[in-house]
Amino acid sequence: MKYIITLLILVTIIGIIASCQVKDQNKSAGLEGISILDIPLEKPEMEEKINFFELVAKKATWNIKGESIEAWTYNGTVPGEEIRVIEGEWVEVNLKNELDEPVTIHWHGMVLPNVMDGVAGVTQNAIQPGESFTYQFKALEAGTYWYHSHQNGFEQVDRGLYGAFIVEPKEKSYDKDYVLMLDEWDVGENNRGMMNSMMGDGSTPGEMDSQMMYQTFTVNGKSAPNINPIDINAGEIVRLRIINAGYQKHVLYLNDHSYRIAAIDGKEVEGNSLTTDVFIIAPGERIDLEFTETGTMDWFIDSPNAVEEAKDILIPVNIAGVEEENYASYRDASQLKIMDISQQGKMDSIIDPNQEPDIEYTMDLSAGMGMMQGGMTYTINGETFPDTEPIQVKKGDLVKVRITNNSMLDHPMHLHGHYFQVISKNGLSLENPLVKDLINVEPHEQYEILFIADNPGDWLFHCHDLLHATGGMVTAVKYNGYYSSFELGGEYHNEPE
Ligand code: C2O
Ligand code: CU
Repeated sequence: MKYIITLLILVTIIGIIASCQVKDQNKSAGLEGISILDIPLEKPEMEEKINFFELVAKKATWNIKGESIEAWTYNGTVPGEEIRVIEGEWVEVNLKNELDEPVTIHWHGMVLPNVMDGVAGVTQNAIQPGESFTYQFKALEAGTYWYHSHQNGFEQVDRGLYGAFIVEPKEKSYDKDYVLMLDEWDVGENNRGMMNSMMGDGSTPGEMDSQMMYQTFTVNGKSAPNINPIDINAGEIVRLRIINAGYQKHVLYLNDHSYRIAAIDGKEVEGNSLTTDVFIIAPGERIDLEFTETGTMDWFIDSPNAVEEAKDILIPVNIAGVEEENYASYRDASQLKIMDISQQGKMDSIIDPNQEPDIEYTMDLSAGMGMMQGGMTYTINGETFPDTEPIQVKKGDLVKVRITNNSMLDHPMHLHGHYFQVISKNGLSLENPLVKDLINVEPHEQYEILFIADNPGDWLFHCHDLLHATGGMVTAVKYNGYYSSFELGGEYHNEPE
């Protein structure tokens, strides 16, 4: 008996020592707790419908403004093939990589399990040339989303690796919807160079660094006069789903037609009054609006933006039965007012803004001369990714982030895997609840946001002007007790931005 007890104690002690050693090894590699690969995933039930999509990343010749460009595409077009499902349905996307570079797909705005987030070196390895990867998840909430590569994103998204992802509601408030994906392109003709773009033409404030890279703006991959028209019938309620896939903000005007903001970043907005104001959409942002066509004359949506390239945004709206080539402009420049999107939120609040946060993180955004892309660095609290300090949370924490822009450039900050509620702008509380996944912080602005850490894993929080992201403006939200076993660089050449 004594012998057996001694043996048991001995075995237990050996066991404890061994498990300590394993823990120590994990700790020294920064790997303590649960791997993100072991977070249980919900799977479709037998009887549930699955929507299958095949996306092939490949090169394609694409024409913009009379110039032939070699674009990088999903399925040969820019934007890539649209994904459209109904809320609550399963989606399975098989991504095949026929490019010479590794790629991924990130599902921008969708709250998914961490391993479906598509961030190279963080939630998966980049998919190598010739390889495939399958994403499977449930499209829980209706809304306007988009997808894009999250490997070397600055270059890959710029060359066309993006598309729209629409989750339709079961019951629609509209008769017809149209997706308008906005972008900028370098079509190679008369590159204006830095000096011209900084001095010349009344550039959009806050964006002179990325502005000098482009010569035209596009809608669904085309610039005027080749933009596909919106075809509608008089009397119809039309929803426009506008997505900014570029690195510049865009200005749109519905030529005196009344509309209401119907959703922001995929979240429905209720009870907004009708307006005719001009609105601005930041990089990565989505704005849905609805209008009822009452007119008898075709018209167009244009972009009253001071920059030259904005003239290439001219979207024809054709009304059935109305004579074509007869476009009305009702524009009176002196009457144009710009809508403040931060005052448009009449959404369901997700957080009580008066609650005490468990974690507070100060995010000071700056830009300076440095050793990175184009000689500029874009920093968070003085550091560039991956040296930026992560937001370290535990599951269930209420997290408050105060974002201050100390630079002369705009920073559209995007959080993966969570929605946040904007609670103040420049020290003033917001009147209406505004729930987003991206907030455009203009020079010298300050926002406070709250989110609940309810989706364990490693998630990026970064500037969606991907020129800035690649220049360092990226941090991460990390959960205590969870780790990612993927690494930046390495044999898969993982480069999340
Ligand atoms: Cu549009 Cu990191 O994402
Ligand atoms: Cu930025």
